[in-house]
Amino acid sequence: METVTIVGLGYVGLPLACLCAEKGHKVYGLEIDENKVNLINKSQSPIQDEYVINKLKKVTGKINATTNPDDCIPNSDIVITCVPTPITKSRSPDLTALKRSVTEISKFLKPNTLLIIESTIHPGTVEEIIVPILKKQNLDPGKNDVFVAHCPERIDPGNKKWTIEDLPRVVGGITKEATKKAAEFYKTIIKADILELSNIKAAEATKIMENTFRDINIAFVNEMAQSFDKAGIDITEVIKGASTKPFAFMAHYPGAGVGGHCIPVDPYYLIEKARQIGFTHKFLSLAREINNNMPNYTVQLLENELKKLEKSIKDAKVGVLGLAYKANVDDIRESPSAEIVETLKNKGAEVFVFDPNVKKESNVRDFDELLSKSDYIVLATDHKEFRNMDLSKLEKNKISIVIDGRNCLDKEKIKSMGIAYHGIGRS
Ligand SMILES: NC(=O)c1ccc[n+]([C@@H]2O[C@H](COP(=O)([O-])OP(=O)(O)OC[C@H]3O[C@@H](n4cnc5c(N)ncnc54)[C@H](O)[C@@H]3O)[C@@H](O)[C@H]2O)c1
Repeated sequence: METVTIVGLGYVGLPLACLCAEKGHKVYGLEIDENKVNLINKSQSPIQDEYVINKLKKVTGKINATTNPDDCIPNSDIVITCVPTPITKSRSPDLTALKRSVTEISKFLKPNTLLIIESTIHPGTVEEIIVPILKKQNLDPGKNDVFVAHCPERIDPGNKKWTIEDLPRVVGGITKEATKKAAEFYKTIIKADILELSNIKAAEATKIMENTFRDINIAFVNEMAQSFDKAGIDITEVIKGASTKPFAFMAHYPGAGVGGHCIPVDPYYLIEKARQIGFTHKFLSLAREINNNMPNYTVQLLENELKKLEKSIKDAKVGVLGLAYKANVDDIRESPSAEIVETLKNKGAEVFVFDPNVKKESNVRDFDELLSKSDYIVLATDHKEFRNMDLSKLEKNKISIVIDGRNCLDKEKIKSMGIAYHGIGRS
């Protein structure tokens, strides 16, 4: 059993803290948000995540959360940072939280502690930014005063099949000893394989490549969807067809936009780092451009349908379903829904929004109120409540257009009720 401090108790850090406690480690959580600290110490989850809610109950009293590094870092054998690595308004990497947390931690580390960075970072971040911070405290990771490694997190909140415990991991350290120590630790909590890479940059690049792969493939289907829209081809049929090929095709799905703290963020980390070292990522930037335009495209679809009814978007009463960036979670970071709402408002529409997981940000009480106030619907998030909606309610509430931003509704049934339907590459 080791004493482990998890720094940053969010979508990544909190499940990790629960897992470490469940596997018998002594666990501290260092978090700057006092409200989160208080909730976690009462075994209540600050995030709407079934896995975390259940695990917190299971490990009641076993995670000691605090805002004070002095309470935990000097006692810890292992410190793992899971703080956010977002982008700025101008879409540059924002490493403020990571630098701040490592600066704080470095003042309290005992010799030979294993420091693991789980936050997503571009290649070179640990060597160029983290190591100098540690050296300021006379800790040299090259000499193993402190063992420093990167182990990118692959968790997919809400995914019941692939949980933190079942996902294989890759680790890379500043030294071979650091890599080994990190791998040994993960073997105590993860059931899947742990791959040791020969250097830390390769581990940093692995995560960015995985998420960029996803962004590019989504951009590809989003472009195909727009092309097929013009051609009158339903892309969901085409994806079904292409998926019968047993090799060299991997289904990705078009949608109203790409959100969350990872996919629309991580490519910018690589784009910027590569720019600094003299390489231009044209392909990655184009993918970002295509995906960033999807909320706008979704609103355009509504405008096209309104035109067919000789109606205008100005003063149109539009109900937007969903604020979270993906189904069945409460995370609204980088959510395309916010941009859809803003674009609609800028065009003069009256917008009603409802998300069962984000009620605080909704401007109507429930789905029924939204339907009663709206003439047109834009589905932005495929929460189960929307995917399984009683479609007869659309007819009862005289909804005349449905824009299905996640291609998750029964288009034939909706059309059979005399309601105009348009998905993303599906009509
Ligand atoms: N959300 C995901 O699905 C996901 C998946 C894989 C990897 N990641 C990566 O993991 C990292 C964390 O993401 P997240 O979604 O958990 O973020 P989050 O915002 O949910 O959680 C981060 C937590 O860190 C806290 N924090 C910020 N600065 C701090 C500091 N100086 N000291 C202590 N606590 C601090 C915040 O208050 C917050 O509670 C990011 O680098 C992200 O790219 C996220």
